[in-house]
Amino acid sequence: MLVKEYRPRSLWVLLSFALVVLAVLRSSDNSRLVFRTSSTDLAVEANVFAAELRLRPGMTLCEMGSANGALMTALAPSVMPGGKLVATSIERAELEATASALRASGIDDTALSVYLATDTEWAPGLPDGTCDALYSRMVIHMIPEPVILNHYIAQWARALAPGGLMFMTDHNPLDGTTTGPRKGMLSLGGFSLFMEVVPEETEVAQITASRFELEKGPFKHPFFSMGYGAVYRPRRQPATTADPAIAVSAGL
Ligand SMILES: C[S@@+](CC[C@H](N)C(=O)[O-])C[C@H]1O[C@@H](n2cnc3c(N)ncnc32)[C@H](O)[C@@H]1O
Repeated sequence: MLVKEYRPRSLWVLLSFALVVLAVLRSSDNSRLVFRTSSTDLAVEANVFAAELRLRPGMTLCEMGSANGALMTALAPSVMPGGKLVATSIERAELEATASALRASGIDDTALSVYLATDTEWAPGLPDGTCDALYSRMVIHMIPEPVILNHYIAQWARALAPGGLMFMTDHNPLDGTTTGPRKGMLSLGGFSLFMEVVPEETEVAQITASRFELEKGPFKHPFFSMGYGAVYRPRRQPATTADPAIAVSAGL
């Protein structure tokens, strides 16, 4: 029997082809941005967010990384009438998708403000004390660690109104191993090619190192593999740099 010689070059061609297909699929269907698109799953999950964030009509609800706006659309009725919505993303197209999704669900355009994130600001120009509730779903692991530690955590704390809560969901390393600091990732066509995710205890320690206290969790967030969530409230007095938790999170 003739056994074909293994050719590494064919592997590269195959891999490139697969990546192009993935990129085309991704760019042609914004609904892929939200994991688990079944409307039942989304409604159940939205109830969890609404309960953890204690949403009420009239609140301002802020989401970091709103993607196609599906979760925000599911949550918006909890803050209406009178509520306001703030959506951020690192991609302008996702902010447009969020705005269209909300419009299609009958939410008035004036209720929504959108902010394009940068590597130093999670919501450039957002006034301090805006958010009665702030959340994200599977976004933190996408952001390089220095951006989270040096900029975003303090900005989330400033963004919250007095009494405001923050509910962050993320996922543990998929293989269950501790992988060290989050790495910057190569993204192609919206797909992340390399990602190094920290375990939940590291993320919680980082967020609570100085600006936040843990209100609840971390607990299993069952809507995606290895998912967890934790609820935080800002500390009245930020801890000083002498706080040992800061040294731990900074790897000192
Ligand atoms: C895994 S997806 C999750 C999307 C959505 N939250 C969901 O649950 O389906 C990660 C999202 O994070 C967004 N993202 C990455 N960096 C960001 C940043 N600095 N600020 C806001 N969103 C960011 C990406 O654009 C992408 O939509």
